[in-house]
Amino acid sequence: MKLWDKGFEPNEIVERFTVGRDRELDMALAPYDVEGSMAHIRMLESIGLLTKDELSTLLAGLQDIADEIAAGRFEIEEGIEDVHSEVEKLLTERLGSVGKKIHAGRSRNDQVLVDLKLFYRERLRQIAEQIGHVFDVLLSLSDRYQNILMPGYTHMQVAMPSSFGLWFGAYAETLIDDLRVVAAAYDTADQNPLGSAAGYGSSFPLKRTMTTQLLQFQTLHYNVCSAQMGRGKTERALAYALNAVASTIGRLAMDVCLFMSQNFAFFSLPDEFTTGSSIMPHKKNPDIFEVMRAKCNRLQSIVGEVSLLTTNLPLGYQRDLQLLKDITFPALDEMDEVLSTLAFILPYLRVNEHILDDARYNYLFTVEDVNRLVLSGKPFREAYREVGMQVQRGEYQPNKTVHHTHEGSIGNLCNAEIRAKMQAVLQHFPSGQ
Ligand code: ARG
Repeated sequence: MKLWDKGFEPNEIVERFTVGRDRELDMALAPYDVEGSMAHIRMLESIGLLTKDELSTLLAGLQDIADEIAAGRFEIEEGIEDVHSEVEKLLTERLGSVGKKIHAGRSRNDQVLVDLKLFYRERLRQIAEQIGHVFDVLLSLSDRYQNILMPGYTHMQVAMPSSFGLWFGAYAETLIDDLRVVAAAYDTADQNPLGSAAGYGSSFPLKRTMTTQLLQFQTLHYNVCSAQMGRGKTERALAYALNAVASTIGRLAMDVCLFMSQNFAFFSLPDEFTTGSSIMPHKKNPDIFEVMRAKCNRLQSIVGEVSLLTTNLPLGYQRDLQLLKDITFPALDEMDEVLSTLAFILPYLRVNEHILDDARYNYLFTVEDVNRLVLSGKPFREAYREVGMQVQRGEYQPNKTVHHTHEGSIGNLCNAEIRAKMQAVLQHFPSGQ
């Protein structure tokens, strides 16, 4: 049975092809579909399209469905094409003809839009919270290892002294910039599309500001066509946000894989967090970070998928848009898993506190030695040449004391300032319930 039933049965192949994964994916939208419907019918009552009694009957019916969803007792039945159809069908079955009244002044096009906005808004808020958690873990590791030096590289060649404090803190501070992109996606999602109906509004005197307030949206998409165009735009903003976060975590994962290699041995993991080989008995592999790197690379690709799916679609609803859910829903789950796994594993990373005892890292200190000569009065270029010639002749002996004092350097990480910067960006998001 279809909401749009006109007395003929659709072809089965067409039906299966067009419904796609909706019955499975729409389950995530169910609580928001009910929430959107509640706001819509309150508004319908306020403009006289429902009586007070009808409103309370419908609200009670919707509340029952909300409870069933929360208890895991809700399903989109075989033959019902999506969550919107299922909710309306249940209401009509249970309440009779009053159930048939809720759809006045809306279309599934704005219904799915409002569901998606509410769903994305909440998922982005959760991601922000998780980023905040990973940030805290990274920055406390940065505090803990602030005095433990490690080699810094440029061109993959030994360059200058770095520290584990600097390394952990670098990823923490970079996540703040990623969070700014998440905040932009959050703002894009936080706009009410309800009332745009099929994409061209309605001849009913809908009160869109009222539903905006009821659903606690920051603002509304005023122009009804722009509301409809928000499908695709919101997903694009979300894809950029996931891309930003994934790019940072992917690089972190790559560093860990590299630095766990015996040729580096900066990091190690307790045995139970490594995986073995079926042929090489000695292997203890960092698969967790490899899978994390792969997931992050794949997550970055959804910007391309969303862009291609929506590029050059003409104005107005097109069924193509339905497939955005196939891209964004699994990506959100994957991001969630990556962030929680990262927060879980990071504290188990063991740091090699004595790497710099190895003579292969002696050249890390050439700049320190040049700078010491400069501080004792030698012009920089002469000091550079003096140390350079020692290296060239194979006579260079490092002085391994380091003294870095400026903001953000290994001797002055400014983690308190970085924490304050993160707090300011996190303020953008409401705290969780
Ligand atoms: N499942 C559809 C989607 O995600 C719901 C909207 C259907 N609207 C329509 N006019 N067929 O886009």
